Amino acid sequence: QAALPAGYTLRALRSSDYERGFLKVLEVLTEVGNHTKEQYLEQFNYLLNHNDQYYTITITDDSKNVVVAAGTILVERKFVHKNGLVGHIEDIAVDKNQQGKKLGLRIIQALKFIGAQRGCYKVILDCSEKNIPFYEKCGFKHKEYEMAWYV
Ligand code: ACO
Repeated sequence: QAALPAGYTLRALRSSDYERGFLKVLEVLTEVGNHTKEQYLEQFNYLLNHNDQYYTITITDDSKNVVVAAGTILVERKFVHKNGLVGHIEDIAVDKNQQGKKLGLRIIQALKFIGAQRGCYKVILDCSEKNIPFYEKCGFKHKEYEMAWYV
């Protein structure tokens, strides 16, 4: 796997990433909500206590000490495939000003690696039609259709 550009670091999400603009990066996806630090930590600590199931990673721009990209893999336990594990990639986000530098690709490569290390027999994700070429470049193939029900 090729390296990140110089001056960028890929690592697990930290509690202090609240101050580094992690939630701001997620705004390229959808409405995030104005979390207080306490509300952020409530979710962060849940993920930390389930760290065999949730892996959220970030890329930081070290010169500015800010988060510029993020992504999550959730490991689901199944009965099928003899208690098989399936990785679900979620919430891939790259800051608008940092897109096109292969940061998204590096996030996906790292999440695929985590999924493979955890023993997942497949890693899947939902995306919009316009992101299909990006995920194809990341080694994914179009398989099914997403269905949604909003409460
Ligand atoms: N159409 C065609 N090709 C694309 C596109 C696109 N929309 N986006 C990226 N690519 C290509 C790049 O040109 C590059 O190709 P190359 O290797 O031949 O040069 C390759 O895919 C890798 O691109 P990156 O530079 O890694 O892409 P980037 O860092 O900009 O991240 C991402 C892509 C995550 C889609 C980013 O643009 C983004 O955050 N968009 C807004 C939020 C979003 O849509 N997130 C995904 C939601 S789906 C989910 O979370 C499961």
